[in-house]
Amino acid sequence: MKVIGTPEEVHKESLRWKHSEYVALVPTMGALHEGHLSLVRRAKRLAPRCIVSIFVNPLQFGPNEDLSKYPRTFEEDCRKLEKEGVDAVFAPSPETFYPAAFASKVNVSHLSEHLCGRSRPGHFEGVATVCLKLFLSTAADFAIFGEKDFQQWRVLQRMVSDLNVPIRLVAQPIVRETDGLAMSSRNRYLSADERQAALAIPASLQAARDAVKLSEALTVGELTKTVRDRLSATALRIEYCDITSETDLVPQAAERRIIEIEKPRLFVAVKSGATRLIDNMSLGKEGT
Ligand code: PAF
Repeated sequence: MKVIGTPEEVHKESLRWKHSEYVALVPTMGALHEGHLSLVRRAKRLAPRCIVSIFVNPLQFGPNEDLSKYPRTFEEDCRKLEKEGVDAVFAPSPETFYPAAFASKVNVSHLSEHLCGRSRPGHFEGVATVCLKLFLSTAADFAIFGEKDFQQWRVLQRMVSDLNVPIRLVAQPIVRETDGLAMSSRNRYLSADERQAALAIPASLQAARDAVKLSEALTVGELTKTVRDRLSATALRIEYCDITSETDLVPQAAERRIIEIEKPRLFVAVKSGATRLIDNMSLGKEGT
């Protein structure tokens, strides 16, 4: 497995493969867990060549967020990726990827505005910018993303379509711990008590999904109130709890019945102690 530090070098390597083989990219910020490895396995089923990028992207962190504290476990990550048979790790330094004169940003309006976009201004601009750079540097044919960051996935789909970026984006369902908690690099920050409280997130999402199956009359207001009450009964602090259509990600009005919404999905962001956690679940008949 090669470790590559510059966009020029990864581009050259990828073009060499692309003469005869597809190349898949798994963009990550490192601190890899089973969720990331499921993306790598999907990538390897899609293409014979797999590049994993490891880059903690400063552009997507706000001034009061956890950029400096974000877990960095590069050696351990490389060992895991080597075992999975990854061909190359692309790990540029921030100075290499964003030289001093760097001045461009990609803004994807509408889809970036609600949910995490409201609480993290500039976040999706940072994500879209880094992903466009990763897509172009690696010249990958496929890029694989987890549905835990569902809004990110939709924003990137929009960007790729709007800007005719020659890559196919593939989504992979959320990977959960055996007790239901969605896997996240940030879970390692949770104390035992905070982790216990965090279990209310998947439990309330699943209960909401079950409730929709039982009652066609259920409204957005009724369902979000039940979820909020359940989360508030713990030490979790709610940032948002919204139901949207997957198509526009605009929070739906309280009186709207869930069954009237096209591809309804429930989104939750909370803080457990100092750790921000997000999760989501489809409320539709199909979907995860
Ligand atoms: O989902 C992530 O880990 C990041 O947002 C990504 C896509 C690697 C961009 O920095």
